[in-house]
Amino acid sequence: ALAQETVKIGLILPMTGPFASTGRQIEAAAKLYMQQKGDTVAGKTIQLIVKDDTGVADVTKRLAQELIVNDKIAVMAGFGLTPLALAPAPLATQAKVPQVVMAAATATITEASPFIVRTSFTLPQATVPMADWASQNGIKKVVTLVSDYGPGIDAEKAFTGAFTGKGGQVENLRVPLANPDFSPFLQKVADAKPDALFVFVPSGIGAQFMKQFVERGLDKSGVKLIGPGDVTDDDILNGMGDVALGAITTQHYSAAHDSPENKAFVEAFKKANPNMRPNFMAVGGYDGMHLIYEGLKKTNGQGGQALIDAMKGLSWTSPRGPVSIDPQTRDIVQNIYVRKVERKDGELYNVEFATIPNVKDPVKAAK
Ligand code: DHB
Repeated sequence: ALAQETVKIGLILPMTGPFASTGRQIEAAAKLYMQQKGDTVAGKTIQLIVKDDTGVADVTKRLAQELIVNDKIAVMAGFGLTPLALAPAPLATQAKVPQVVMAAATATITEASPFIVRTSFTLPQATVPMADWASQNGIKKVVTLVSDYGPGIDAEKAFTGAFTGKGGQVENLRVPLANPDFSPFLQKVADAKPDALFVFVPSGIGAQFMKQFVERGLDKSGVKLIGPGDVTDDDILNGMGDVALGAITTQHYSAAHDSPENKAFVEAFKKANPNMRPNFMAVGGYDGMHLIYEGLKKTNGQGGQALIDAMKGLSWTSPRGPVSIDPQTRDIVQNIYVRKVERKDGELYNVEFATIPNVKDPVKAAK
């Protein structure tokens, strides 16, 4: 018999280095999706090629080039950080290869190529509900502390704009992305005595932040910890201990999300990866694979312009809740949940207690 035609997906992720947790989560979720759904779509064999960019944008770009030219991939996916998503965008445009961004979350990323589609989130999308919650819950003075690059600046601007618009007071601090030392910034926070500290650090870095938060005595200072959910991501939350209890965050995914789809997802993920718990990166990878599979079903296995067009407007029930791809922006429309860190069955979880339904990226919605 003739060998079945192959459709290749290049999955480019930081599998080593400081952002390896993002790579591990997304790879595990993508493989779980294929294990569950099989490797045949529209009569073609799906082949996943995983590459480690080590978190360096020049490497991401070189790997994307090699995958396009040598392996003839139909889709590239992954992209653990904003600079890693932006670097190959011109190649996506030039080669007409859809680029599925599963992690990176600066609002403007989807504008870098008409071939980019995103299954993660945007920081303004996750952050505006945090400003609303803070202003409705007696918080008047906030210090923001963000990693000094795309998503951190997005979070800072979205929070500051929305919170001062409701009469709140904000002071902004930025900490370097690479090898961050939070202590001088946390000393400033201790001196300013705000009602709340709003934090954005990328996934995987929250544990380092929390350690220094305790070392500075801020856990006993009465300063409330708030932010988008990256700082308490489900991969590392359990290791943080009691200091994380009570932190209020807003985000699109919690391992504690109460739905049959999520219960099945968390159980299958843990079974396939015994020492891991899925976080929001995992769900971005899982949904990214779903988007690729459903797009390929619609195009009968064809890539290129047909595939990106087929992805626009798709909707499904994700482990995170109902989602759709905005056909205008190629960003994901999704619920944002307000959550509080609590102990449940001996584990720390972000327990959802309020839902803001069908949130679009507010930056693009305002254009
Ligand atoms: C980005 C990376 C993260 O780990 C995260 O949690 C949010 C955004 C980014 O670089 O875009």
